[in-house]
Amino acid sequence: MHDDCSVITKLILSAAEDARKETSGEAESPYTQKVEWPVSCTVGPGLEGAIACESSVGYVNGSKGLLIYRGYDIFDLCAHSTFEEVSYLLLHGNLPTAEQLETYQQKLVSYRYVPKTMRVLMGFPIEELNTMAALRLGTLFLRQKKTLIDQEAARPDIESAIGSDEDSIPMEIAPYGEPHAIYEFKRKASTAQADDAASPESCYHLISGVATIAAAIRRIRDGNMPIEPDPDLSHAGNFLYMLTGRRPTPVEERVMDIALILHADHGMNASTFACMVVASTLSDIYSSVDAGIGALNGPLHGGANELALRTLRSIGGVGNVKGWFEQARASKQKIMGFGHRVYKAYDPRARVLGPLSRHLAEGNPDIQPLFETARALECEVASTLGVEKKIFPNVDFFSGLVYTSMGIPPELFTPVFAVSRVSGWTARVLEYLENNRIFRPRAMYVGPFGKKYVPLEGRSDDEADEG
Ligand code: CMC
Repeated sequence: MHDDCSVITKLILSAAEDARKETSGEAESPYTQKVEWPVSCTVGPGLEGAIACESSVGYVNGSKGLLIYRGYDIFDLCAHSTFEEVSYLLLHGNLPTAEQLETYQQKLVSYRYVPKTMRVLMGFPIEELNTMAALRLGTLFLRQKKTLIDQEAARPDIESAIGSDEDSIPMEIAPYGEPHAIYEFKRKASTAQADDAASPESCYHLISGVATIAAAIRRIRDGNMPIEPDPDLSHAGNFLYMLTGRRPTPVEERVMDIALILHADHGMNASTFACMVVASTLSDIYSSVDAGIGALNGPLHGGANELALRTLRSIGGVGNVKGWFEQARASKQKIMGFGHRVYKAYDPRARVLGPLSRHLAEGNPDIQPLFETARALECEVASTLGVEKKIFPNVDFFSGLVYTSMGIPPELFTPVFAVSRVSGWTARVLEYLENNRIFRPRAMYVGPFGKKYVPLEGRSDDEADEG
């Protein structure tokens, strides 16, 4: 592996230039206006097109392949920033000054030590658990105070909620979307605690703690003891160090940092929405992040990169790509690492991760053939499904190759996603709680009415099948 980080910056800037050239003619998106409630929008299955809230945390323009965090283009952040800066930006709305960054980094250092969580976690057979299940467990343990009194104390202070008069939409009328039922939580930063239901401190605690737990899960699974964080390393560097027990090279640290930046936020994706739904009930932010981890686990969301890598391995070489793809198409198989609900252009995250995986694969006999297979499959898909249905590689197509090059095993890929996304989840939860309203959509009832209750002894299989 090459040790020159400036090459990586050049790769990102070049990917940015390609992206801007290829998508500059695409239409602007309608999703950048202030919302007047009630809002009219066309909603497809899976809430496609539904507007759930306003946000200034981040924005995805799917036709331009644009990803923005708090106004900054993802390519610029990847080329010039760090995960510490980016997570601060997401949470606070602005890039930190040198002093703010120093204070924030010190907090991350202190919250990286989670000895009590480790003690509890190690009492479980972690090596037998799905890694995401283990991560959920550890994340809940981060919140050590579990008595009812502590839980009550940690809820948002309902008495300081302003502008509330009613808290639910009557069930059988159309939503009127009036603003009165919104709870706005005024937090006193000076008194915020790491176990407050939703405070910047609890967000810092989660950002640091989830990384420590994910790394420890890998160590314990391999029969090793977790490694103490090193206060002198960056967040990305520390994560790799705690995972592998070896100080990362500058290139590894930089690539990990970029991967964390790229995955930090992505609009109202399924896991972010899951976090927000839980937070909207005024549950605590640890439970909220726990829900996000659960949603991220699925192969249609965070779990796709593990399957994408498995696909590349099973294809068995560049020469087999065409035949494999034709068969996959004929059987209408979904190809992991391709397609996106929002992107109908090339995913900008794949534009960065593609060249990074090429850089890491060069001269590595284990990865080079997989990378070549990936590029060949990308060409097949882009020239067919890309033209017909605008299906291109997404973030998960190349990330597995990047992580494998750095010695991260497949079962850790989705936890790594969570290590980064916890920054976006918490930023969006904090923002939403400022003007909270419990999420409560409707379903269209299409079942029967007026069925006659039959006692147990009078039921037959036919009736059960009908039911
Ligand atoms: N391979 C082949 N065909 C596809 C693919 C794919 N990966 N993705 C979508 N299609 C086709 C699909 O068969 C359908 O065709 P038709 O209209 O003829 O029935 C059409 O494209 C629309 O697909 P959809 O499933 O309705 O699209 P969606 O918006 O509901 O799903 C998706 C988006 C990401 C779940 C889907 O593209 C998919 O399953 N991709 C593979 C899994 C994957 O890579 N997931 C990671 C997503 S990126 C990480 C993240 O941001 O969460």
